[in-house]
Amino acid sequence: MLTCTAFLITLSFSGEPLTARYLIYIILCLLMLQAFIGIFLYRKRKRDLREIKEVISKIITNSYKSAEEIHLRGDLSELQKEIKTMFLKTQSDIANLKRLEQIRTEFLGNVSHELRTPIFAIQGFIETLLNGAIDDSSVNRSFLAKANQHTLNLSALLNDLIDISMIESGEMLLSFRYFNAYEFLEEIIQEFIPKAQEKNLSLILLPLDSSLKIYGDKQRLRQVMVNLIMNALKYTDAGSVTIGIADEAERCRIFIRDTGIGIPAEDLKRVFERFYRVDKDRSRMMGGTGLGLAIVKHIVEAHGFKVEVTSEPGKGSEFSFRVKK
Ligand SMILES: Nc1ncnc2c1ncn2[C@@H]1O[C@H](COP(=O)(O)OP(=O)(O)OP(=O)(O)O)[C@@H](O)[C@H]1O
Ligand SMILES: [Mg+2]
Repeated sequence: MLTCTAFLITLSFSGEPLTARYLIYIILCLLMLQAFIGIFLYRKRKRDLREIKEVISKIITNSYKSAEEIHLRGDLSELQKEIKTMFLKTQSDIANLKRLEQIRTEFLGNVSHELRTPIFAIQGFIETLLNGAIDDSSVNRSFLAKANQHTLNLSALLNDLIDISMIESGEMLLSFRYFNAYEFLEEIIQEFIPKAQEKNLSLILLPLDSSLKIYGDKQRLRQVMVNLIMNALKYTDAGSVTIGIADEAERCRIFIRDTGIGIPAEDLKRVFERFYRVDKDRSRMMGGTGLGLAIVKHIVEAHGFKVEVTSEPGKGSEFSFRVKK
C-alpha cells in the first residue's frame, strides 16, 4: 500500500495536475479505509482473544462440567473444536491419574496388611517360646514349625510382590522361543504328583501330540501353569485335576480343569485382581497371598492372549489360556 501511495504521489507531481488530485483523493480514501479495516480487525482480534482467555480461565478453574458448555463464536469454531478435544483429553487424563492413585493406595494398604499377618504370627510364636514354651517338649517343635511356615508364606508373598512390580513396571523381559508342549507339561505335572497324592486327587494329563511345539517364554508360562495347577489342587477336596491342550488353527488352548469348590459367579470377574480371594480365611490359612492369578493374567496378556475362567460352585472350575504354536 505504501509503495503504491509513493508511486501515485510521484505521479501527481510529474505533470498532469487534475488527474493527480483525483489520485490523491483516492489514495486518501484508501488510506482511511485501510485505517478503518485495521481498527476493525484490531478490535475483533482483541475480542477473540478475550473470549479465548475466558474459556481457558474457566477450564483452569474447573467451571465447565462438560465439553458441551464450551462455546466460541462462529469464526472460532475450529478452535472451539480443538479446545473441546483438549478438555476431554485432560478430563480423561485426570480421571486416569485419580484411578491410579487410588489403586496405589489400595495396593499399599493390602501389602502392609498381608505383611503384618505373618510377621505378627512369627513374633507371637517366638515370644511364647522365649517365655518358657521352649522347654515344653509338647509344643516347642510345633510352634517352631508354625513360625517357620509363616516365614515361608512371607517369602512367597515377597517373591509374588517382586514379580508383580517387575511385570507392571515393564522390567520383566520375555524371551520368546519354541519348545515342546508335551515335555513342558509333563515336567510340571511330575512336580505336583506328591501334592495330589497327599490329597488323594487324580492328576491327569490328557493325551496330546508329543511333537507339538508352542511359542512363548517357557519360564513365565511355567509360572502360569504352576499357579493354576496349585490353585486347582488347593481348592479341590475330592476328584481330579485335568490338564489338556485343545488344538486350534494357529494356536492352542491350554486348560486346567478341576472338580473343586468352584467360584461363585459374582466373584469370577474379580479373581484376577491383586489380593482378591473368594474365601479370605480359607485362602490365607493355606498360605495364599491372592497374587497368583494377578501374575497369571499379566503373563498371559504379555503373550498377547487372555486368561479365561468358567466355574460352577460345588462342581469345579476351568482356567484356560491360549498360546501360539
Ligand atoms: N481352581 C480354583 N477353584 C476355586 N477357587 C479358586 C481357584 N483358583 C482360584 N480360586 C479363587 O481365586 C482366589 C485368587 O486366586 P489366587 O491364585 O490369585 O490367590 P491365592 O490362591 O489365594 O493365593 P496365591 O497368591 O498364593 O496363589 C483364591 O483365593 C480362590 O478364592
Ligand atoms: Mg493361587
